[in-house]
Amino acid sequence: MTIETIRLTQTVKGGGCAAKLAPGILDKALCGLDLPVDPDLLVGLDRADDAGVYRVSDELALVQTVDFFPPMVDDPFSFGQIAAANALSDIYAMGGTPKTAMNIVSFPAKTLDISILRTIIEGGLDKMREAGVVLVGGHTVEDSELKYGLSVTGYIHPDRILTKRNLQTGDRLILTKSLGTGIVATAIKGGLADQGVIDKVTLAMATLNREAALTMEDFTVHACTDITGFGFLGHLAEMVVDSGHGVRITAADVPMYPEALEWAAMGLIPAGAYNNRNFRGAFVDFDAAVPQRVQDLLFDPQTSGGLLIAVAAGEAERLVEALKMNGIDCAAIVGEVIAGPVDRIVVE
Ligand code: CO
Ligand code: CO
Ligand code: CO
Repeated sequence: MTIETIRLTQTVKGGGCAAKLAPGILDKALCGLDLPVDPDLLVGLDRADDAGVYRVSDELALVQTVDFFPPMVDDPFSFGQIAAANALSDIYAMGGTPKTAMNIVSFPAKTLDISILRTIIEGGLDKMREAGVVLVGGHTVEDSELKYGLSVTGYIHPDRILTKRNLQTGDRLILTKSLGTGIVATAIKGGLADQGVIDKVTLAMATLNREAALTMEDFTVHACTDITGFGFLGHLAEMVVDSGHGVRITAADVPMYPEALEWAAMGLIPAGAYNNRNFRGAFVDFDAAVPQRVQDLLFDPQTSGGLLIAVAAGEAERLVEALKMNGIDCAAIVGEVIAGPVDRIVVE
């Protein structure tokens, strides 16, 4: 096989955030561990969020995250861009500004030409440049499967940290990218996706959440996260469980790739979607009118998905307008925070 004809997705079992350890399994490894206590650790493992936050001074905290995964697209440069955009996203979801990054690489040097790794890293650098992030180092191991990603460190003001907590009754929920990338990745791996849909979804996954994060700075945002491997409803459940509030989602308003809906109807659904439903389905009440394929997309594991923003009700329309004006075309109000039933997600 020549370098040009190697399809990266054929060299791995599963790609993107769908390759995450199934939710619930990780909890078994972490629960009950004797974790270090530090008054300056503002967001840590005890209350899992998008990134960890450590206070340096009253004015400055470090926000730190790490993400890496196997390829979900065949093109090495695009894979590098997507992996970097995905890793940077957790900083944006906290309201932070990414500053430095380190490459994390697993590379099968015996079966893949090293020029592929160079192209992947070039894709990553392209996104780091766009984000204003400096690459300071990295670490590479020989492995049977290709994986790439970044550890990222950013700055944040200790008083302006956006977490998954702090939902307020009446808040509107805004989503900034369409759902269905996990299903599309399954179709790409299976050779079913045409170049048009590959290009469209690749561009979306490679898009930084930077513009969305900068836009929301001017609004009364109470909580935020980004949608990745646990899917829209999995990440929403992290916001809702133990919040003392409920959430109502209007399924018809949630942006979704039409191609993904078609493939879902054909049963082309990644295992991660079933894992997500098994783990979080008990918190969700689906109206009988919500089609099965739509339910499947709501649990579909996303790679480099959009931000899910809880904003004060009176500002929601204006935030969506501002997001669209800044090029985030599919931004939409997808639901609202309600007083009850508490800790439950109602999907209509
Ligand atoms: Co995240
Ligand atoms: Co992450
Ligand atoms: Co090292």
